[in-house]
Amino acid sequence: MKHTDIKEIITNPSFIGKTVTVCGWVRTARNSKNVAFIELNDGTSLKHLQIVIDKTSDIEYENALRLGASVKVEGTVVEARQAAVEINASSIELIGDCPLEYPLQKKRHTLEFLRTMPHLRGRTNTFNAVLRVRSVLAESIHRYFQNRNYVYINTPLITGSDCEGAGEMFQVTTIGYSQDYKTEEDYYNDDFFGKRAGLSVSGQLEGEVAAMALGKIYTFGPSFRAENSNTPKHLAEFWHVEPEVAFAELPDIIEMAEDMLKTVIRELLDTCKDEMQFFDDHFEKGIIERLEELISHDFGVVSYTDAIKLLQESGEDFVYPVSWGCDLQTEHERYIAEKVFKKAVFVTDYPKEIKSFYMKQNPDGKTVAAVDLLVPGVGEIIGGSEREADYDKLVAAMNERSMNLSLYSDYLDLRKFGSVPHGGFGLGFERLIMYVTGVSNIRDVTLYPRTVGSIR
Ligand code: 4AD
Repeated sequence: MKHTDIKEIITNPSFIGKTVTVCGWVRTARNSKNVAFIELNDGTSLKHLQIVIDKTSDIEYENALRLGASVKVEGTVVEARQAAVEINASSIELIGDCPLEYPLQKKRHTLEFLRTMPHLRGRTNTFNAVLRVRSVLAESIHRYFQNRNYVYINTPLITGSDCEGAGEMFQVTTIGYSQDYKTEEDYYNDDFFGKRAGLSVSGQLEGEVAAMALGKIYTFGPSFRAENSNTPKHLAEFWHVEPEVAFAELPDIIEMAEDMLKTVIRELLDTCKDEMQFFDDHFEKGIIERLEELISHDFGVVSYTDAIKLLQESGEDFVYPVSWGCDLQTEHERYIAEKVFKKAVFVTDYPKEIKSFYMKQNPDGKTVAAVDLLVPGVGEIIGGSEREADYDKLVAAMNERSMNLSLYSDYLDLRKFGSVPHGGFGLGFERLIMYVTGVSNIRDVTLYPRTVGSIR
């Protein structure tokens, strides 16, 4: 179907005076005495294109005035008020009619209401902007790593080993409920892979394999977590950016994470001006200025031990009590980012008991070289570490956790054959989108959210 993107017509003045064909969905329609107006949107732009119909002409337009209908319009591009352009229609064709039960009748619907119709909410301004920001940021992230000699790796989604060791893996099986098996062993022997398998919670372990050959790699794909966390920032299926770097220690990883975030947010502010203004107007007043501030200052850095002291001395009445050794809850993370530092802050060197087996053990014997990045409004968006590169220390940490070493033989081999200091992190892509848009529920920054108790 030959037609021009509305984005091109709106942004390129050379279309003025030309005859064009556009397609799109009717966002609003007004009928006055001699003229009718349609606000048309084809998804390529947050801004709509106004179609002007001379009712005294012989254009058949009545059916095209229905909200949600899809239409094809031919006409001339003319200048309109406020440096905009509009189309003087010469013909209108109804492509797909839309009856009155079309649910998006109001100008603004609540996000909760829109969640009940993921197949239609993409046609609202909010989701138009969110999905474009996702797309632009994804491309920026790829470009950041590609320009710096990182290799993009596709790690397996089905795995036999649990990376985080937190027992949050969805199981992959072709058998399902059955009373035919007396033992677990019998069941898994008969299953597709001949052993227990699940959906990967992180591509890190295989990412390390690739980094030990290619030096600098990153992954960008889905991760799955069967966490029973019904919160505004947890999804069962989320997109995960995981760089992994050889010959790198924790400070190198922190420096790269900060530089990457600043670079991609700069590109977002430059590329998505309309979308970011929309979020500033409708979701978080001043968000553009806050992001500008963020990228023009150093991020904070604080050790876990000092963060605990800050929380204990805060005088705040936290729901979860604070003591050395406790896991930081969202309320603690947000207090540190929002009240103490008032910016993004890296928290480093957590107690080894609350972190994963693979993290480098610090000389104090109590902490590991871990890092989380906390941001105002969301809390943790990045989790990473330097990895334990010493074979014996890694085996000891795995044994302390009663892990089945035979499932991790490839991973352990890396520590035998030319082991090097290395590290990386995982950035939750949806958490980043929440942070840069001010949209406060993770269900509203992805096309089809998967959360506990809900799938569509
Ligand atoms: O802190 P996490 O669990 O770290 C890892 O998975 C490491 N293997 C990453 C690495 O070092 N390569 O997860 C990393 C990030 C979190 O900071 C968060 O942004 C996001 O992944 N994340 C989730 N996002 C949405 N829903 C969930 N259920 C998430 N769980 C983690």
